[in-house]
Amino acid sequence: EDGGPQPEKHCGHGRGGMGEDVKRKEDQRFITGRGNYVDDIKKPDMLHCEIVRSPHAHARIENIDKSRALDVDGVVAVLTADDLREYDLATMPTLMADTQDVLVNDKVKFQSQEVAAVIATDRYTAKDGAQKVVVDYDVLEPVVDAEESLEDDAPLIRDDIEGQEDNHCLDWETGDEEATAEVFEEADVTVKEQMLYQRLHPAPIETCGALGDYDPGKDKLTVHMTSQAPHIHRTLFAQVSGIPEHKIRIVSPDVGGGFGNKVPIYPGYVVAAAASYVLEQPVKWVEERSENIQSTGFARDYDMTGELAATDDGEILAVRTDVLADHGAYNAVAQPSKFPAGFFNIFTGSYDIDTAYGSLTAAYTNTAPGGVAYRCSFRVTEAVYLIERMVKVLADELGMDPAEIRRKNFIQPEQFPYESPTGWNYDSGDYEGALDKALEMADYDHYREEQQRRIDEDADTLLGIGISSFTEVVGAGPGKTCDIAGVEMFDSAEIRVHPTGNATVRVGVQTQGQGHETTFAQIVAEELGMDVDDITVEHGDTDTDPYGLGTYGSRSTPVAGAAAAVASRKVREKAKAIAANELEAAEEDITWDRETGEFHVAGAPDRSITITEIAAGAYMNHPSSEEPGLEAVNYYDPPEMTYPFGSYIVVVEVDRETGEVEFEKFVAVDDCGNRINPMIIEGQIHGGLAQGIGTAMLEHVTFDDNGNVTGGDFMNYLLPTSMEIPNFETGHTVTPSPHHPIGAKGVGESPTVGSPPAIVNAVVDAMSHAGITHVEMPMTPDTVWEKLDEAGLST
Ligand code: CDP
Repeated sequence: EDGGPQPEKHCGHGRGGMGEDVKRKEDQRFITGRGNYVDDIKKPDMLHCEIVRSPHAHARIENIDKSRALDVDGVVAVLTADDLREYDLATMPTLMADTQDVLVNDKVKFQSQEVAAVIATDRYTAKDGAQKVVVDYDVLEPVVDAEESLEDDAPLIRDDIEGQEDNHCLDWETGDEEATAEVFEEADVTVKEQMLYQRLHPAPIETCGALGDYDPGKDKLTVHMTSQAPHIHRTLFAQVSGIPEHKIRIVSPDVGGGFGNKVPIYPGYVVAAAASYVLEQPVKWVEERSENIQSTGFARDYDMTGELAATDDGEILAVRTDVLADHGAYNAVAQPSKFPAGFFNIFTGSYDIDTAYGSLTAAYTNTAPGGVAYRCSFRVTEAVYLIERMVKVLADELGMDPAEIRRKNFIQPEQFPYESPTGWNYDSGDYEGALDKALEMADYDHYREEQQRRIDEDADTLLGIGISSFTEVVGAGPGKTCDIAGVEMFDSAEIRVHPTGNATVRVGVQTQGQGHETTFAQIVAEELGMDVDDITVEHGDTDTDPYGLGTYGSRSTPVAGAAAAVASRKVREKAKAIAANELEAAEEDITWDRETGEFHVAGAPDRSITITEIAAGAYMNHPSSEEPGLEAVNYYDPPEMTYPFGSYIVVVEVDRETGEVEFEKFVAVDDCGNRINPMIIEGQIHGGLAQGIGTAMLEHVTFDDNGNVTGGDFMNYLLPTSMEIPNFETGHTVTPSPHHPIGAKGVGESPTVGSPPAIVNAVVDAMSHAGITHVEMPMTPDTVWEKLDEAGLST
């Protein structure tokens, strides 16, 4: 009655609880144009901020002349590092405790770095002013390639770090190097492949922005900002500025997509807040698109070498990987402090592999800092890509079917909880079940026959079938192993049931479009027997919400979702005492019926009471044994992470003349444990698959040798549109998480994590009969055509 995972049979009692396709509450405002984003917020006497950015990737600043900008009518102030230094704000810590210039102190380290800020009465005037700030640069040689940056003669980027003599950022290793080497020496078969997970940008529809609003009367600084993690941002603001934390309020209103891009603190946020503090007027800063792509947190940029050792019949014995990571000009990756390579060390994937070793070297380059978790749990995307690509490479080497080799190596359902050789504790899984379902949905055997037919008939188009059977790791904490800037990664929910029987729920996570206002209400509706329409979910305001670590890495459901369930159960416990009082029965005789949502006297089902009646009792007739009111809060520190998984099958047609790739079939079977809202999950899967297609086929932030960003706007950084997106066929299996209060796992990032290897495997598969083992992303027609040509398949 009171806990444990709730199987799907509980779904569908009609109150909008678990498993129901409740329409998204938030859509009413979004589809009627009433969303409230940072740039929609207007305050009396509001000023606007424009940032002057460096055109050079590496240059020493010799002089900044503000005078012509200050002459522009409407320009109120021009700020440089010298001005910020007066307030001790010239630098700020990154999420990895590196020190980043807010405005360049001495030397520019990447193109578009923030050099000065112009504050004016309107945005256009601020822009005019910015164009009149004259900066003298002594241009230095840049290095934008991680491998070149580690060469002896590379220019030193971080001369601001004492003792730093090269561009080496950090080293990391995991697993057992010696044992892995021994297995490789003795194995029947070994395979090796080098692959680049190219630099991507999360590119949310809404760029980053902030509105600093200092109230001198209350001595309180409010910052409305595009934040995926308002509370931790408040703590960091307090630490950097010295303003006491209770005098700072961060409000993250509607956010138009985050995808990890809105986890770090950017100089623009600090400048808007500081300018408002100094000028005692509200100051707004909102980026343009190219500023967002060129200067805010990029993702990936892992150059990986993967190796597998196996028996002749396809049993994988060991995996080894070595990574060169480009961290940009500062170490600003977004990952829990104790994980220098994020969750990359889950690279043994869905397979029961005894022996593993991984090593990584990170380098500084003259590129924007980043390495954010773009719709991904801290580098799990790179890990999944590595292992799922390598399994395909091994299958081809052995002449085995890629589905068969996966089946042979999967961790079996009875092995859970499963401890991996790199220290992860998988909660539950049925990998073969998901793969079998996907194979059936994809009509796998038919396509294998069709593939062979085309080869035999020397057809103009080749067919390729790609599989990815990924395992994700989501829901960071636990707090003892995961933290952000020292703050443990728990999350929270607070429920207040009002006297008339409806409730306000506040959560510590912050939605960026995932539908939390609906799904969190569904969890509470399920656990309290309330109607989902009677529950309002609030988030994104540090003055009112309980402290939480924010939304990224699909952690909302695993952590804050658990908090919502536990807080509901606390309310339910108190409700029992009130029910006993109202029904004139002993508290231990009161039971709760999940189906009806009512509280009964045991053995007398007609003596029942609803949560609405109990709410009235809590405020109007509370028992003397209890305090009045009906509220609860829970701070949930997860015992473990959750491990959603799935199998994706992609069938592509490759044109031998043009190298163009067409999607013939796209099947995605996901398992996120118990499902709160299947319709929302379906939307999450569709969106994530679209981003996976962008990754595999189109997107890449590129640089020229002078350090210019050549992929820094939407003309050159190609996002997928409806024209590139095929019809998706989605399916699911349900393997509840045994430790999550409602048996749910996260789901939001699974499709972005799981789909790129399936797509690349499909394109490789079209050419593997001719010896092709890898195609680099993005698989543009010219990249694919070169591979066709190399294999003698082009026409
Ligand atoms: O942290 P984030 O919200 O990005 O990811 P998530 O926890 O995977 O949730 C994404 C959306 O899917 C939320 O609205 C969840 O409540 C919903 N979801 C669900 O309905 N059932 C699940 N088992 C997992 C997520």
